[in-house]
Amino acid sequence: MSGRGVAELQATADRWVPPEVAEILLSPEEIAARVKELAAEISRDYAGKDLHLVGVLRGAFVFLADLMRGLTIPASVDLIAISSYGAKTRSSGVVRILKDLEDSVEDRHVIVVEDIIDTGLTLNYLLDLLRDRKVAGLEVCALLDKPSARKVECRARYVGFTVPNAFVVGYGLDYNQQFRGLPYIAILRPEVYGGDRNANAG
Ligand code: PRP
Repeated sequence: MSGRGVAELQATADRWVPPEVAEILLSPEEIAARVKELAAEISRDYAGKDLHLVGVLRGAFVFLADLMRGLTIPASVDLIAISSYGAKTRSSGVVRILKDLEDSVEDRHVIVVEDIIDTGLTLNYLLDLLRDRKVAGLEVCALLDKPSARKVECRARYVGFTVPNAFVVGYGLDYNQQFRGLPYIAILRPEVYGGDRNANAG
């Protein structure tokens, strides 16, 4: 992973970079290459199994779509929306289901697809919930991992990139519901969000 300046990306790719962006962390090309690798790894590991992807809304929808299209084995998909109570940009540890899964996960090989693991609180809650529903296997595929923000032990079998302790947006990740559509992952300027770097969980 290599960070680079906004000017460089604009000069080389003619892409829109909002003024709130301080730095481009991962280019669309870097993301696409890594997503392809993750999809290949999952395809190898789950060959012959009933693979069921569970995407966590809203942040994971871009990653999920690309990951799924990179698979070379059959897979089904379902979506769940969960949200933490409390301050707008801070994980409080209390999580609620906004939209539950539509299909049963019992006896299925589930991979939870997340955009980012920050404190780990969201994923911990979700993994407990899915274990209670008697899955056959349960793993996590997270595009981004921010281990420096962890509040509870939480590990993913498949991780795209480890990111620094900064507020990252783009490729599905938001700040106040903005920036999800950026095709790259960028670091926001601290003055935009008030400087709390451990704040990726909205
Ligand atoms: C983000 C992200 C993860 C979670 C990670 O979701 O998509 O689900 O926070 O944070 P944690 O490890 O600290 O729990 P958010 O609640 O911001 O909702 P969103 O996916 O709709 O952006």
